[in-house]
Amino acid sequence: MGKHWIGTIQELEKIPMKRYDVKGNDIFVVRTQGKYYAVSNRCTHEESYFSQEGEVEDTTLTCGRHGARFDLQTGAVKALPAVHPLKTYQLAVEGEDMFIILEDTPKPQAAGLRDLGI
Ligand code: FES
Repeated sequence: MGKHWIGTIQELEKIPMKRYDVKGNDIFVVRTQGKYYAVSNRCTHEESYFSQEGEVEDTTLTCGRHGARFDLQTGAVKALPAVHPLKTYQLAVEGEDMFIILEDTPKPQAAGLRDLGI
């Protein structure tokens, strides 16, 4: 799917977090401690969006709805009630430009006849 320019780092100067739509992926980009992170904008607990209710401290993203916490670096859950990790995205900064690198989605392998019980 390739490398997609999303904007410049100046967009995160005043408010260090912003939502981007990249080829249908709802992505939340955060600048914290001088680094940039990109994760899914949707909390894995319920229907909440970090762009509306997210708070960041160091490299921890907290959902404002019920308080689940995630590691921005890995997407790992740091506090309940969420139990599923966040999807993370590769973000590259080149000069003042930011890019999201989307990986190719592997095509599902066709089930073999044995898998189908035939
Ligand atoms: S919706 Fe995010 S913690 Fe519940």
